[in-house]
Amino acid sequence: MSSHNYIKNSKNENILININGELFHRSEAKISVFDSGFLLGDGVWEGIRLHKKKLVFIEDHINRIFASAKGISLEVPFSKEDIIFEINKVLLANEMEDDIHIRFIISRGDKITPYQNPNANVGPINFVIIPEFKKTDPKTYSRGIKIGRVNNIRPTEMMLNPQYNTLSKLNCILASIEANRLGFDEGIMNDINGNISTCNSTNLFFINDNKVITSTGDHCLNGITRGKIIQVCDENNIKCLQKNFTFEEIENCKEAFVTGTFAGVIPVKMIEKRLLNSTKENSLTNDIRSLYNKKINEYINLKC
Ligand SMILES: Cc1ncc(COP(=O)(O)O)c(C=O)c1O
Repeated sequence: MSSHNYIKNSKNENILININGELFHRSEAKISVFDSGFLLGDGVWEGIRLHKKKLVFIEDHINRIFASAKGISLEVPFSKEDIIFEINKVLLANEMEDDIHIRFIISRGDKITPYQNPNANVGPINFVIIPEFKKTDPKTYSRGIKIGRVNNIRPTEMMLNPQYNTLSKLNCILASIEANRLGFDEGIMNDINGNISTCNSTNLFFINDNKVITSTGDHCLNGITRGKIIQVCDENNIKCLQKNFTFEEIENCKEAFVTGTFAGVIPVKMIEKRLLNSTKENSLTNDIRSLYNKKINEYINLKC
């Protein structure tokens, strides 16, 4: 099990991909070896869902990609409308309507030589939109995932600000490799002060005494889903504390869940060797997941 398990779909073998506004079959979709993203991880990205023909929470995703781009001094020469137009173009060409996952990537563009300084960049930015038929595996929710502590920590905003969704994912990847080695689906990462920050590819919440606890958000990606969960809790009188806390404080928690655009709310079945109640029918995690799914449905209906 993982936080990103999906139902395989053979239609993905023939998808079209948007590269700088042109559509290519996936076998022909290629980017230069001088691209800044390929050479140096220099760029930003978003993962977006299409459900019932609607790009879910698209305004939040577009705002975040602009904020991430600004955070790394990358000028995006498009309007929000241009981006939505390019996403819709490739969705339409692929006849995609539901359970679609879209990876939208903007890199600083091609370089004259593989050198880090952006003064070696010669061209405009490159953008790529990869849409896939990707339905979440329902077993993700019934089985839950296993998480545990790893040694890799989240950097501060003065290192590589984790609030920007950049292509420089090595910090997350190294934590993920460590988690794999330890037999966890996701690694629990601390911040620089020893407080729990997040997981390697998702945001993290614990539940104790019917209270939801999560990090302050200062040292992790401020997930769109994380934001919606905090909102959902507020709207439904579920206490959700955003605070600094250590592993010892939540060691005996009864439930936990992780969040992300792809699978929404994913129950944590096990923290290291301890079994939790999160996958149970009557868990608060389950209630929060239903409330979050309701929020998506409300959004979809509103966008009609
Ligand atoms: C490190 C990290 N944390 C959390 C998330 C979840 O964020 P969101 O809810 O916006 O998908 C992601 C997904 O991009 C991520 O890469």
